[in-house]
Amino acid sequence: MDRRATAVAHPNIALIKYWGKRDEQLMIPYADSLSMTLDIFPTTTTVRIDSGAPADEVVLDGSPAGGERRQRVVTFLDLLRQLAGRTERAHVDTRNSVPTGAGLASSASGFAALALAGAAAYGLDLDATALSRLARRGSVSASRSVFGGFAICHAGPGAGAAADLGSYAEPVPVAPFDVALVVAIVDAGPKAVSSREGMRRTVRTSPLYPSWVASGRADLAEMRTALLRGDLDAVGEIAERNALGMHATMLAARPAVRYLAPVTVAVLDSVLRLRADGVGAYATMDAGPNVKVLCRRADADRVADTLRDVAPGCAVVVAGPGPAAAPDPGSRP
Ligand code: PMV
Repeated sequence: MDRRATAVAHPNIALIKYWGKRDEQLMIPYADSLSMTLDIFPTTTTVRIDSGAPADEVVLDGSPAGGERRQRVVTFLDLLRQLAGRTERAHVDTRNSVPTGAGLASSASGFAALALAGAAAYGLDLDATALSRLARRGSVSASRSVFGGFAICHAGPGAGAAADLGSYAEPVPVAPFDVALVVAIVDAGPKAVSSREGMRRTVRTSPLYPSWVASGRADLAEMRTALLRGDLDAVGEIAERNALGMHATMLAARPAVRYLAPVTVAVLDSVLRLRADGVGAYATMDAGPNVKVLCRRADADRVADTLRDVAPGCAVVVAGPGPAAAPDPGSRP
């Protein structure tokens, strides 16, 4: 029987970033990373096995996907088929509620949803660890979106099969704490340099890269204790310096990789002003100009209003911790 499965996954934002892969084939990062899954911008993906189809078909937000986007999905389906010992092609339908490729973590929610729906459709019975390992093969950040709340992705030791086994995500213990992430969408267009290319160039050419990886280790240890204490200000401070350090390594690449736009810097200034006014607000940015500001839920409206003032015309959305990737309750096998 041709099976179908649908899954929903949410993006996550790394508070401790990874940037750079030591194995691009197996998608093994150089550094551990730690993130919060969001309760906004879900991706819904349906995988339908089509035993009569000569090739995989990939539909992204209602239109057939081509080029690199389609290829990444087909490569992922090849991996699923290899793991399941199957050969049938599939039809994949993915809907993002946020623009794809704009530094808003659509690859995290996208590959987490594809891993879950694809594994179910091809009849693979995987626990959450195995699922996160699988999602990592689509996009390292996707391994973390398998889980809700806060999750760490281990870079793992070694190379080859040992590294593949050792690199997976798992939930991180946190004290219950009141946290919001205010997302300012400065530019929803596709980025000029893909994160894959940006990472490659940074690893190969940035003289700051090794020291950023080393300082990330210390940031991660401090972040874990700050989360256990539920200390929003410490979490924010560590996240902000870790993100700025990542952008510094990229700026030192040759040629420089720069995702930060003038509006990004204006938003960063406004975050400093909020702090000077006594509001615990801390910024983080990924491979794009958008800024995500961590703060207390009670301060989220004030932070959002400030960002709207400083970045007129930009969409500003308030998020909280979101759920784990899950089968869509409405879907039928
Ligand atoms: O794994 P990707 O290709 O989605 O890249 C994620 C890169 C960063 O968002 C900048 C860092 C991270 O750890 O999520």
